[in-house]
Amino acid sequence: MSTQQALDSVFSNLWNDYVAFNPQAKRIYELIFNHEKKADPNVKELINDHVALRTYNVPHIGLEALGQLFTRHGYSKGGEYIFADKKLRAWHFEHPDKTLPKVFISELEIEKLSPLVQETARKAASEIDPSRAKREDFLWSRRPWRASHATYKKLLEESEYAAWMYAFGFRSNHFTISVNGLKSFKGLVDLNTFVKSQGFALNQAGGEVKGTPQQFLEQSSTLAESTKVEFDDGVFEIPACYYEFALRHPMANGQLYQGFVTSSADKIFESTNVKR
Ligand code: NI
Repeated sequence: MSTQQALDSVFSNLWNDYVAFNPQAKRIYELIFNHEKKADPNVKELINDHVALRTYNVPHIGLEALGQLFTRHGYSKGGEYIFADKKLRAWHFEHPDKTLPKVFISELEIEKLSPLVQETARKAASEIDPSRAKREDFLWSRRPWRASHATYKKLLEESEYAAWMYAFGFRSNHFTISVNGLKSFKGLVDLNTFVKSQGFALNQAGGEVKGTPQQFLEQSSTLAESTKVEFDDGVFEIPACYYEFALRHPMANGQLYQGFVTSSADKIFESTNVKR
């Protein structure tokens, strides 16, 4: 399989898994795609700015391990980001072929959290064979461990991220439409207005648009849709994933900025918050 085929397969599998439990994203994609199609009948698909993945910082499933599944296909490490309050760190990966999405991988620094979070994450990680995590299909393998809603609620008190990871496991946390790639919208505000007019709520944490042209990146996102999750102690409806929109601006050298803005990403993480 060529690199291109391998990556196409990774992203289409991630996308299919993502929309299967987050049908809102599929509806929004189709609405925007149809809007684009009216402006340009030749448009084939919407371009993804980035795909985001989450994990715990246990070595065999940590961000470096997940990153290798992309670097082996030509991706290289871009920026590093620290989210001190949320006890997260993240790297982004990018590919020389700019039509391929960037990959934003974050991991929870469990040693900075309570023994409960540490034990839950280590137990979860121990159920994954290291060789399993070296296969691309690990990225959409969902949750290989048993989970209870009681533990989920306890984790939630401490870290929304820890709870999300525990409930959902390995899958895309969000996809992001590249607003630069759209022809029928005047910009991010115009796109946001369209999405809201179709009945979808946007994450207002830190303002509807995060970031500024001076920071070279403006982002907005929907609020995560609730989905039914089967736990050992019953089926519960909890926030799953969200859809993001990103508009990049050119830097002094004329190139579009390819990195991320920590203060904006910090607020975007809150799109999966339970208490709003
Ligand atoms: Ni994002």
